[in-house]
Amino acid sequence: MSTDVDAETEEVSGSSGSDGDGAVPVGVKLGSTRTVIAYPTEDGGLQTIRTLTCLASYEDALTGEEKYLYGEEAAREYPDRVQFMLRSGLPEDEDRAELTEQFFSTVIESHDIPEDSAVVYAIPTIDNPAGLENLQNVIENSPIGTALMESYPESLCGSIPAFGDDLEAIEQIFIAVNMGSTNLEASAYRRGEQISPFTTGAVTGNEVDRVIANYVEEETQGRVNIDITTAREYKEEHADFEEFEPFTDIIQQPGGGSHEFTIERSVMDACNEYLDDVVEEFANTFLSQLANDHMKVYQLALDRPVVLTGGMACIPGVVEEFEERVGEALGRDIEAVAADRPDLSATIGAQRIAARLAQND
Ligand SMILES: Nc1ncnc2c1ncn2[C@@H]1O[C@H](COP(=O)(O)OP(=O)(O)OP(=O)(O)O)[C@@H](O)[C@H]1O
Ligand SMILES: [Mg+2]
Repeated sequence: MSTDVDAETEEVSGSSGSDGDGAVPVGVKLGSTRTVIAYPTEDGGLQTIRTLTCLASYEDALTGEEKYLYGEEAAREYPDRVQFMLRSGLPEDEDRAELTEQFFSTVIESHDIPEDSAVVYAIPTIDNPAGLENLQNVIENSPIGTALMESYPESLCGSIPAFGDDLEAIEQIFIAVNMGSTNLEASAYRRGEQISPFTTGAVTGNEVDRVIANYVEEETQGRVNIDITTAREYKEEHADFEEFEPFTDIIQQPGGGSHEFTIERSVMDACNEYLDDVVEEFANTFLSQLANDHMKVYQLALDRPVVLTGGMACIPGVVEEFEERVGEALGRDIEAVAADRPDLSATIGAQRIAARLAQND
């Protein structure tokens, strides 16, 4: 379905909706863990860049100039000084906004994205006006998007590829749940209008990583301490609600030698608790709020599939498990769906909106 070009870029299936005339349509999500950008290939396909949202600066040994590295390379080579400037979800202050600008323009420059492009940003739904304003400044100061610049909610963008090959989602009434690293978000959408948005920072992918790290220590009787990056990698590589397989890893002992261990429970115990919390917040908090505020939308939307978006929706089997647990909580059947690549879907949806807006321009 997709081909890896290198660790960072891949061509995904589907059309970019770009015919070569007019501004190049680009989709962007600046996420707390990863930034994803989608833009057309020369033959009308779609290319994505997916990189860790982090930056490290170093001094050029010959010229003394300050240089920047971003993404996996920065995290691996400069663990002592790499900065994850969107760690909390949004740029919290001016320094972090500036770092985000630097990060974004460095990514843009190394990928030939034209300045006179039409860019749509997928924006998280968080009640943090100052952070959102900082993000807006980053967007406005970025080198791209001189032809057109717009923002749409991340969970709406992320639902678009789950509905079809075009912008079908914008015509529908449905509920979207975005399962991110710093937030769980749920909203209803009525023809693109966001209704009754709900966000909590208490049920998150980052928290799953912390819990995995603790459980690994317990499961190995205190012999193994992993950092949260390793915990995230365990989760992303091994979490599976359908057929989880125990896996082994090796750590180097401080005094020399190595220790091999097997993880049987830690990853899925953490993921199961996470999904229970997601279902609890969704069924008890979000749905009651929606039913209270918009009874008709609630009824119409619950008869349609609930769309799961965001990186945590990548875990195999999560859609079926969500259906089952929500069904039990509500005492009625519900259906859920996700795009092929929930971690890329917000950006791909944003890119489709950009293509449509660029056409209309
Ligand atoms: N294949 C995968 N399997 C399991 N978890 C994954 C996978 N890919 C990404 N994740 C997890 O999804 C989360 C990231 O989700 P997403 O990219 O939607 O977040 P974000 O937009 O960066 O964060 P937020 O919206 O909270 O600011 C992280 O916890 C990450 O580890
Ligand atoms: Mg997000």
